[in-house]
Amino acid sequence: RAWLEEQAWEINAMVRDFYHHILTHRPEASEARSYLEKRGVSRHTQGIFQLGYAPPGWDTLLQFLASRNCPSQRAVELGLLIRGERGKPYDRFRNRLIFPICNAQGRVVGFGGRVLDDSQPKYLNTPETIVFNKGQLLFGLHLARAAIREQGYAIIMEGYMDVITAHQHGIHNAVASLGTSLTAEQGHLLSRYTKDVVIAYDADTAGVAATIRGLDLLQQLGFRVRVVTIPEGKDPDEYIRQHGRGKWQQLVETATSLLDYKLSRAAKKGGDTASLLAQVLPNLAAMPGEVEREEGIKRVAARLSLSWEAVRDALQRFSKNLG
Ligand code: CTP
Ligand code: MN
Ligand code: MN
Ligand code: MN
Ligand code: MN
Repeated sequence: RAWLEEQAWEINAMVRDFYHHILTHRPEASEARSYLEKRGVSRHTQGIFQLGYAPPGWDTLLQFLASRNCPSQRAVELGLLIRGERGKPYDRFRNRLIFPICNAQGRVVGFGGRVLDDSQPKYLNTPETIVFNKGQLLFGLHLARAAIREQGYAIIMEGYMDVITAHQHGIHNAVASLGTSLTAEQGHLLSRYTKDVVIAYDADTAGVAATIRGLDLLQQLGFRVRVVTIPEGKDPDEYIRQHGRGKWQQLVETATSLLDYKLSRAAKKGGDTASLLAQVLPNLAAMPGEVEREEGIKRVAARLSLSWEAVRDALQRFSKNLG
């Protein structure tokens, strides 16, 4: 298995270089280059992230891999080629911008591919392979880990472009969960670098409930979790490009604790007190310090118009059921 993994990394690295070369050198990539220019991604940043371009043909990569004596069966297993109905393989990524996805050590484990217009699906990703499991990766971690250690916290964003723009603007502690709700594996991975995270998801994030479940999970793993609310319905990429790094830092400084984030969401939505209380008990229970917890109990009580004792008792019952 170790040997198979190394072979997979090697093939993926070769494919990354191939697509990157096309983006940077070939005439058929001119539309992709202007797309990136329009979105403000500099040449330097394109190099840092080794972005690429897959041309529209069905056999561009197929031919290249054949010329390098890479068995097409391997490439199918790595999700680079798809086996057609008559068993003939063809390129998975066609006419897409390519985002190589690396593990924490910088090995290429998979790819994301974006269309250049608004056709669907907007992104295609490598399917599960022996080296690619979306739930065990954080996009950009290999570039962010030093900064995460230095700054003492990580910012988790949703998408490729968010992280790329953040890095270009000197915000180097940003990683992306690639649109999925956070998993325990991603938490364990990140905990090697920090136990302090700021979540900066898109204002339009569809599955807020799923998102919050992921955040609860991080808190249960011992993380301090804060949430940034991005104004104007933007995502980090759009916000940072429009307002710059200084404003972004200010926004991060206004990040609220997960508990307060839930409380203010609850206040906006309404709902009955019992269910709101049930939603925040896990957060109170996961608070590391006694003082912090006391403070939390007070805030919950105030927000839900309950007595301090009522919240404390509910918390005790909750914790007992957990144990
Ligand atoms: N995503 C995906 N497949 C999709 C849509 C989204 O895998 N069909 C993932 C991608 O990793 C994407 C992230 O979810 O980066 C966030 O989605 P979205 O906010 O829709 O995309 P953006 O990253 O904002 O991309 P862009 O700015 O290019 O539209
Ligand atoms: Mn830089
Ligand atoms: Mn979105
Ligand atoms: Mn975006
Ligand atoms: Mn987005």
